[in-house]
Amino acid sequence: MTTKPPMRVFSGVQPTANLHLGNYLGAIKRFVELQNSGECIYCVVDLHAITVPQDPKMLAAQTREVAAAYLAAGVDPARSIMFVQSCVSAHAELAWILNCVARMGWLERMTQFKDKAGKNAERSSVGLFNYPVLMAADILAYRATHVPVGEDQKQHLELSRDIATRFNADFKVEGFFPLPEPIIGGPAARVMNLQDGSKKMSKSEPADNSRINLTDSKDDLVRKIKKAKTDTLAMPSHIDELKSRPEVDNLIGIYAALAGQTKEQVVTEFSGAGFGLFKPRLAELAVETLGPVMDKMMRYMNDPAQIDAILRDGAVRAHAIAQPILAQTKEAVGFWG
Ligand code: TYM
Repeated sequence: MTTKPPMRVFSGVQPTANLHLGNYLGAIKRFVELQNSGECIYCVVDLHAITVPQDPKMLAAQTREVAAAYLAAGVDPARSIMFVQSCVSAHAELAWILNCVARMGWLERMTQFKDKAGKNAERSSVGLFNYPVLMAADILAYRATHVPVGEDQKQHLELSRDIATRFNADFKVEGFFPLPEPIIGGPAARVMNLQDGSKKMSKSEPADNSRINLTDSKDDLVRKIKKAKTDTLAMPSHIDELKSRPEVDNLIGIYAALAGQTKEQVVTEFSGAGFGLFKPRLAELAVETLGPVMDKMMRYMNDPAQIDAILRDGAVRAHAIAQPILAQTKEAVGFWG
């Protein structure tokens, strides 16, 4: 009889400012739920953040902001490990080894690099190109089995699995790295831009009205929901209608995620109603559910010493897990010592 390995969850968020509702619903809120299912390790991925220019004067504060969001959402540092990526050197060391396992062709297929680099691929940092290899290192350094992320990270997780498979085969160490399972799904796996349902909600979008920031005031929250783009029709009466109404699909997905319902349930509840009814209800729900998280986040951000102590403790615990796995990896590769 084979026994399943215990669940070990790993995920990360970049400290790149403008943390938004997509990050919260697609990832951070789910980090919290998973604490009841297994051992959880949550990282603030500052090495990833510097793949595009960051203001060195802001980076530490942005790092604390992500940590504050984790804590405010309900990540419990007594149960889960919370730490900063650059504080655990195993990530960078393992990334180098995995850079020599991953193939150029695999990385050239990554759509996120193409999106982020745009027409300026030649001028992008090499780090932006091999960003997904560092992501694989993050996960494999802990032999994580499950990775909760938004839908935009699906391809990167497939690459992590390819890298693990290739390492295990090349060095003849079957099962050395488990293949991490993505945890993607629910009604808010891809939260869209509030003004354009064809684009995802993003930290880098210049128009602030396009996203709900976790640092917004409640007035901003209500205003942005009321201003969100919709269409002139009534609320849909069947879920299939959402396919051709992306902005409406998005608002229904947000409502469903905040209420802990499915999109079908929300469609049934508001079938045929006007947006004049739906939007205030959504705003009310958002204030009720997100408001306390935003308030808590502010309180944590006003106590950087507490955050720093939690992150320091997390780095020690993360290092204790990753270091032996890195040592075994070096041995498998055949390094001296
Ligand atoms: P980042 O900081 O860009 O995003 C953090 C998380 O938020 C999710 N996300 C969204 N979910 C739903 N709708 C959206 N509009 C939306 N925008 C972002 C992302 O999918 C992500 O889960 N590369 C990762 C960070 C990372 C990582 C890792 C994740 C680095 N190493 C190892 C897992 C495991 C990222 O996208 O960060």
